[in-house]
Amino acid sequence: MTAVLKINDQLQESSRASENRASAPHSNPVRRTVLVTGGTDGIGSAICKKMADLGHFVATTYQNEAKARAWQNRMEREGYLFYIYKCDVADFWESQDLIRYVTEDLGPIHVLINNAGVTGDSSLGKMTLEQWQNVISNDLGSIFNVTRAAIDSMRATGFGRIVNISSVNGQKRQFGQASYSATKVAMHGFTKALAQEVAENGITVNTVSPSYVTTDMILSMPENMRSSIVTQIPVGRLGKPEDIAHVVSFLVSEESGFITGANIAANGGCFME
Ligand SMILES: NC(=O)c1ccc[n+]([C@@H]2O[C@H](COP(=O)([O-])OP(=O)(O)OC[C@H]3O[C@@H](n4cnc5c(N)ncnc54)[C@H](OP(=O)(O)O)[C@@H]3O)[C@@H](O)[C@H]2O)c1
Repeated sequence: MTAVLKINDQLQESSRASENRASAPHSNPVRRTVLVTGGTDGIGSAICKKMADLGHFVATTYQNEAKARAWQNRMEREGYLFYIYKCDVADFWESQDLIRYVTEDLGPIHVLINNAGVTGDSSLGKMTLEQWQNVISNDLGSIFNVTRAAIDSMRATGFGRIVNISSVNGQKRQFGQASYSATKVAMHGFTKALAQEVAENGITVNTVSPSYVTTDMILSMPENMRSSIVTQIPVGRLGKPEDIAHVVSFLVSEESGFITGANIAANGGCFME
């Protein structure tokens, strides 16, 4: 196991950055400590920015050092300074260290967004045990690892917001994604069970299920494949990472304490239950 590593030593600077963001016209007067797993790309990055725009202190995780540094530089140029930690959230003990470090730096975590995830597309006949386990541990094991480490302090604080980023493919299942669909549907089972367990502690637990969002994964598809996906989306476009960040910001707000155990579809209407 490698230790969790911080690459942002500018803690005071980061506080100032959050204060700058907090002076934005629509900022939230209640400032929370937010941890977003896998924030250095795609949907996670948009969630980090949205949370900072609302005036919250934001920590996030990464694995790929070069990518994380490039992202951090880009964010700094845009005026954001996030606390970032190298951590494999598929590893139980690294996740325990992560929560300890974030708590030391920023205080107890109030909001946890379990966003980190991978895909491992393959028909079952060709799927190896390693491919199966990779998706299960990164997408499902990770939410146990990180939530388990954070839940006690949320209970003690008497406030918590947990959002698990699932997928439309956990709702409708998808050819060639037995492992991914299984983890994404199981994730919502975790949401509903935990929501019942911690409701009396002021903690809500919800799932957000996006469809195709314009992250690198989707943008690297051939144009004709993307166009064919769009024809299946009633609103006539792919999702933007900001669409998902918007839903998350609603669920974590102070006013959303009555919403728990829900699975919010953010899919442009391409699947309705
Ligand atoms: N994009 C879509 O169309 C779409 C649709 C539905 C649902 N989703 C879900 O939304 C979430 C984000 O997707 P995305 O498309 O934004 O993904 P992405 O662009 O591939 O970013 C994933 C992030 O997760 C991090 N990550 C992955 N495994 C990790 C681990 N074990 N420990 C720590 N960090 C880890 C990655 O960091 P490193 O690169 O440093 O490893 C990266 O920052 C995922 O859960 C995905 O299943 C996405």
